[in-house]
Amino acid sequence: MRNLPELITPLPGPKAQAIIARDHAAVSGSYTRCYPLVAERGEGATVIDVDGNRFLDCNAGIAVVATGHCHPRIVQAIEQQARKLIHMSGTDFYYENMVTLAEKLSVLAPMPGPHRTYFGNSGTEAIEAAMKIARYHSGRDKFIAFLGGFHGRTMGSLSLTASKYTQRARFSPLVPGVTHIPYAYCYRCPYHQTPDTCTVECVDILEAQLFKTILPADEVAAIVLEPMQGEGGYVVPPPKFFAELQRVAEKHGILLIADEVQCGMGRTGRMWASQHFDFKPDILAIAKGISSGLPLSATVARADVMDWKPGAHASTFGGNPVAVAAALTTIELLEQELIENARQIGEHLMARLKEWPKRFPQVGDVRGLGLMIGIEIVKNQTTREPDQRRRNALIDAAFHSGILILGAGENTIRLSPPLTFTLEQADFVASTLEQLLARQP
Ligand SMILES: Cc1ncc(COP(=O)(O)O)c(C=O)c1O
Repeated sequence: MRNLPELITPLPGPKAQAIIARDHAAVSGSYTRCYPLVAERGEGATVIDVDGNRFLDCNAGIAVVATGHCHPRIVQAIEQQARKLIHMSGTDFYYENMVTLAEKLSVLAPMPGPHRTYFGNSGTEAIEAAMKIARYHSGRDKFIAFLGGFHGRTMGSLSLTASKYTQRARFSPLVPGVTHIPYAYCYRCPYHQTPDTCTVECVDILEAQLFKTILPADEVAAIVLEPMQGEGGYVVPPPKFFAELQRVAEKHGILLIADEVQCGMGRTGRMWASQHFDFKPDILAIAKGISSGLPLSATVARADVMDWKPGAHASTFGGNPVAVAAALTTIELLEQELIENARQIGEHLMARLKEWPKRFPQVGDVRGLGLMIGIEIVKNQTTREPDQRRRNALIDAAFHSGILILGAGENTIRLSPPLTFTLEQADFVASTLEQLLARQP
């Protein structure tokens, strides 16, 4: 069956081995390849490697190919645009499809308009732009971000990132003035609360302590957060976290930046994760899933907030017409069927996976929205001690069963397949992981 895995060589196969050896000699050693997959082709939710092995892809190029690999309508949109105009530089000249995408994003944005949109090429650029807009507009220089958050790796966004120390080690000094506070990670609440006793201490620390001691509130330009943490471990906060953030930000004139680079574009079963919580940021950072694999990012802000003047910020490639054409078709496909599919298949998967902590002692928590699902692996369900070794072993065993999954955070497995995922594919993944969990020593 073309939609499910089929392995025809031991892994890695001979061609994969040869390419990996060349890669190790020529390509940056900073990449973190988890297993030896050398991709040659992709179709829907499947990836075929150079030796002809077919894998089921639960990563979607790290939450990027929302419409699946090489969706025919995306390929067609790219081809048609490439015949007309490949590059012009939206920084210096006008072209229509960039305007059309900005108009569309304004209609879709989770906060009231009017809006303006800045285009870049990657998630980190969307965040750099958001930081600069916040400083420019507010005249304030400081930021609040969350432990576990991932916002990118350029110097500005890296200053906000607090996901793994290896991402920051030896790169200091970063942009000064960023204070990190605990995220609403309820399974590991740093305040040892339960959902019933929680009074959102993770936000209240701002007024109760930080603003009184080390961080004057009127120096804070923005609070930056992922409405659902991605790299930090697929963590879903409770709605009251957002209500409290909104209250504190409004009271102190602080902007809210929602980083929807990973959780946006339909992945959670709504266009934006923010919509699950009625969260209305001032600035929205979008990338990854927006254009089905071509490099594009967008920073959408309230028009009164994006008040910078010509020359303040720009990018040669940002809003490239071919990537924009792919984005317009991606959005059409998402709205026509894929967001609803993500919701339905996500619900189906979640209903099945939610039983896992009862069936498998190493599964501590299962959480998620739509097709953004995290499975936390622990040494002991009572102590909740993270079990990174077992988590990594599961990822490796899944690879050898033809399923591509990755980790997130210290000990979580993430499922972020293309939003085209079928019931059959979802059940195949669940059944295979159940067999692997049952067999795990
Ligand atoms: C939430 C979030 N923000 C920002 C980024 C950075 O995106 P990029 O790698 O495209 O720069 C990522 C990447 O994983 C992300 O998950």
